[in-house]
Amino acid sequence: MKRFIETHEWQVIEDGFRPEQNRVVESLMSLGNGYMGMRGNFEEAYSGNSLQGTYMAGVYYPDRTVVGWWKVGYPEYFAKVLNAVNFIGINVHLGGTPLDLHYWKPTRFRRTLDMHKGELTRLFEVVDGDGRTFSILTRRFVSKARRELACISYKITLEDDPTNKGAAVTFTPYLDGNIVNEDANYGEDFWQALDQSSAPGVQLVTMETKKSGFVVAAASSFSLYLNDQEVTDLQAAYTASPRYAQGEISTVLQRGDSLRLEKVVAVTTSRDHPAQTVSDQAIGLLQQHKRPYSELFQDHAAQWARVWEDSDIQITGDVAAQQGIRFNIFHLHQTYTGEDPRLNIGPKGFTGEKYGGSTYWDTEAYCLPFYLSTRDPQIARNLLMYRYHHLEKAQENAARLGLKGALYPMVTMTGEECHNEWEITFEEIHRNGAIAYAIFNYVRYTGDQDYLVQYGLDVLVEICRFWASRVTFQPRKGVYMILGVTGPNEYENNVNNNWYTNRIASWCLEYTLEVLEELGAKIPGHLRPDPKELHMWEDIVQNMYYPLLPDLGVFAQQDGFMDKELLSVDAIPRSELPLNQHWSWDRILRSCFIKQADVLQGLFFFGDRYDLDTKKRNFDFYEPMTVHESSLSPCVYAIMAAEIGYKSKAYELYLRTARLDLDNYNNDTDDGLHITSMAGTWMSVVYGFGGLRMEDDHLSLRPFAPTKWNGYSFRVLFRGHHLIVRVSANEVAVSQIEGSPFELLLYGQIHTLKEGGEIRIGLPA
Ligand code: BGC
Repeated sequence: MKRFIETHEWQVIEDGFRPEQNRVVESLMSLGNGYMGMRGNFEEAYSGNSLQGTYMAGVYYPDRTVVGWWKVGYPEYFAKVLNAVNFIGINVHLGGTPLDLHYWKPTRFRRTLDMHKGELTRLFEVVDGDGRTFSILTRRFVSKARRELACISYKITLEDDPTNKGAAVTFTPYLDGNIVNEDANYGEDFWQALDQSSAPGVQLVTMETKKSGFVVAAASSFSLYLNDQEVTDLQAAYTASPRYAQGEISTVLQRGDSLRLEKVVAVTTSRDHPAQTVSDQAIGLLQQHKRPYSELFQDHAAQWARVWEDSDIQITGDVAAQQGIRFNIFHLHQTYTGEDPRLNIGPKGFTGEKYGGSTYWDTEAYCLPFYLSTRDPQIARNLLMYRYHHLEKAQENAARLGLKGALYPMVTMTGEECHNEWEITFEEIHRNGAIAYAIFNYVRYTGDQDYLVQYGLDVLVEICRFWASRVTFQPRKGVYMILGVTGPNEYENNVNNNWYTNRIASWCLEYTLEVLEELGAKIPGHLRPDPKELHMWEDIVQNMYYPLLPDLGVFAQQDGFMDKELLSVDAIPRSELPLNQHWSWDRILRSCFIKQADVLQGLFFFGDRYDLDTKKRNFDFYEPMTVHESSLSPCVYAIMAAEIGYKSKAYELYLRTARLDLDNYNNDTDDGLHITSMAGTWMSVVYGFGGLRMEDDHLSLRPFAPTKWNGYSFRVLFRGHHLIVRVSANEVAVSQIEGSPFELLLYGQIHTLKEGGEIRIGLPA
């Protein structure tokens, strides 16, 4: 694969400007802090191909549904986190001409994202019509120390001046709320102006979203440094117009002079403050934090250093692999920090518009394990609480479809369904299973039984009621079936008996029955299903139908799978991949090609029920037909390959998941990054190569190192124990840096680990 992003352990580097890749690089170099974020756009004007994007977590708009043929049960709207006020903007004129890299071809260009410090920089050089050479260094960050703040530094140096007359330079720092969403369904303008002003010391733009009524205020100020000395008598012109505010300042530079503009921005919203105080809050914060870039940056970088101390995965001997995992961990921490239980993890985070910043099953199925093992358990609990708070809406959703219990939405912001393709909205019901699985996963990992009694059981019971009303009893065969579904593999729709869906539905019932039995008297009265209902659930568990291919010893993805022409992905010409950009939908649906882990997803979730041979047979059968055109796919296959001993395959799939965006595998990184699959990448190291599982209420590890690596290490939090696992080609060392003595399973053997203690053993052959 030809890479244009340089491999580096801590940085993402674009050396030499490639306008045709600009949208991809803008996605890769996005910055965020869980509260707000933006793509790696230029500060100055750029009229080439770019997606200008700034997003505030949770500030959304219900965009009216677009659909060809309305079906009863469709959602009225698709909730979108909106493109918000562009606050990084600084227009620049050099020698009277606007700087725009679409027209000025830079003679040098380097855009770098420093993942260790969370800073985006550009260093480039341009020459004007009179032969004057300017070098430009831009820096910016979105503060991890104070989430409402961002800071930009823009420095221009006149390197050479054959005219000997100097060069006029103008800076126009601005706030611009005249923005639109590229994916607006009806091209609507989602914002209205509330207030704007521009004066020395503060520029302000305050706007409100239509319909949803979120108020967002951005306040900025700027300072100027000539040859590193602050210009104290700033003679700037200030103007404002609806949704826009700017300052403008000009000076003349002589050869060797440099002029630096620093811009501090505070952004507040009515999600955190009473609507009428939002502007004042932004101004107040700005006044409090008007400090030089270097000082604000220090606080920010210190926070990142702490994040890395707790959550870095180090890989030695393979820079591409190292860069990949850090890129994933970095963006996860930029997207979701977990303090605000109203928020969730959008599949694109702050890096693009696709998927609207809404919540998908990705959170429960892919992201939860990352937060469980690397952060305070409260954060994972918050993710579960998010769904608990949406239970009522999920009940309404099931009722709208004529079903009982609760059906969680495929896509949501407020608990209401937002997805409007019938094959997914009505049929991709396996998502309900992932919500239940997350409860199970959380409780078994943390041991937090209280969660079950207080909140989890409520959700489980309602999910079971949904399954019990959605199954079809087939009297001729005496079995329960689930008809007309779409499994995780969205490359076939409206199929009968998707093995994964049947498997997880039945598991939900089984698990809930177990929980009910275990909790016994602790169960609040209103949550006790009546015995007839329990009997029905038991019957479904015992008589669920699972499609099998007995001669092959594998589970059939769905009843009709074997009627397809079975081909391997190798048979598809490279020029036709990814299929979703080349083949008609009809051809994709008829083909055997699998978008993402489906049967394998079930074998991963319910791994303790199946032996290695079963896993191997299913892997061998399905993997050659899988195109991994969902980012969520290669991580699951990587974990399974590692478990069944396919080490080089596991490594190949690891690179695919870890570098999915860096190498733009699916040719769609321009839309934004695949944030939720990044947690899957983390799992492919910790669950895949590290072999982490829960076994008999113990944390269990079975690590090995890919041949290409000298070694790797990762940290895990487990019930108050803070562990570091270091794996080399022939040895594994597990140490406990904090926590009471506890028992750990290593390759199936129990070891006791004390605080400060270490277990060191050779890797089994
Ligand atoms: C996948 C879904 C996923 C969604 C958001 C789709 O391409 O098929 O499983 O939930 O993307 O990540």
